[in-house]
Amino acid sequence: MTDQISEGLSDQTIADLHELAGRYPQARSALLPMLHLVQADQGRVTSEGIAVCGEILGLTEAEVSAVATFYTMYKRRPMGKHHVGVCTNTLCAVMGGDEIFERLCGHLDVGNDETSEDGQITLEKVECNAACDFAPVMMVNWEFFDNQTPESAVEVVDRLRAGETVQSTRGATITSWREAERVIGGFEDGLVDEGPAAGPASLAGLEIAAERGWSAPPLDASGAEATRESTAQAVDEADTRRAESENVVEQSAADVRGGEDPDESEATHD
Ligand code: FES
Repeated sequence: MTDQISEGLSDQTIADLHELAGRYPQARSALLPMLHLVQADQGRVTSEGIAVCGEILGLTEAEVSAVATFYTMYKRRPMGKHHVGVCTNTLCAVMGGDEIFERLCGHLDVGNDETSEDGQITLEKVECNAACDFAPVMMVNWEFFDNQTPESAVEVVDRLRAGETVQSTRGATITSWREAERVIGGFEDGLVDEGPAAGPASLAGLEIAAERGWSAPPLDASGAEATRESTAQAVDEADTRRAESENVVEQSAADVRGGEDPDESEATHD
């Protein structure tokens, strides 16, 4: 059993797809959000969704399909009510991401990219979510769950399956995957400001800078000039270092030849 799939795109969705196409100077730029909106309505990118997007944008179905099958955020198979993505990229993996994924596979009795029997959870390995400072990271409907353990991950999916209200570790209330897809498609749900914009680990560098009195270069006209000067200085220094390292390489080659001067060596062989 999966989250209920619509029979066809709703009139509201068709109208919203046209609205998206009108938001861009070139309508075809709207394809990515339009496909998210199709997923919000139908739980996946359907053949109907591909045809309708193509018709609105003047693209062939093959062109739309090429996009829909290229990006992993577009799903051609029905999804569960919630998408749970466990980061198993390098840092998260060594910090416990692999263990979390394996535990959830066993707990939900699914493999990668499969949906639990009750239709509630689709589990997927995901690549780096750009939240490595909170590794290991799990995402539910693209909301962050930082610093997870196998136990905390199991607790989250159990609460979701029980229909409880769940909040991400950054404060956002978890909606369904389809509701989240509508937001990604460009139609806000009013919850965008829930939770902090940045967590403590992301702000650590800022705090160290504040303690030591470090600051970024000013952005006014004189500051911009100073930045250009320091950039030019950095380029000069890089050129000097490169010239020095090239000298070292040339010297090494000469060493390999037994210290012979190449010109003299040639002259000798002539
Ligand atoms: S490796 Fe997991 S968020 Fe970067």
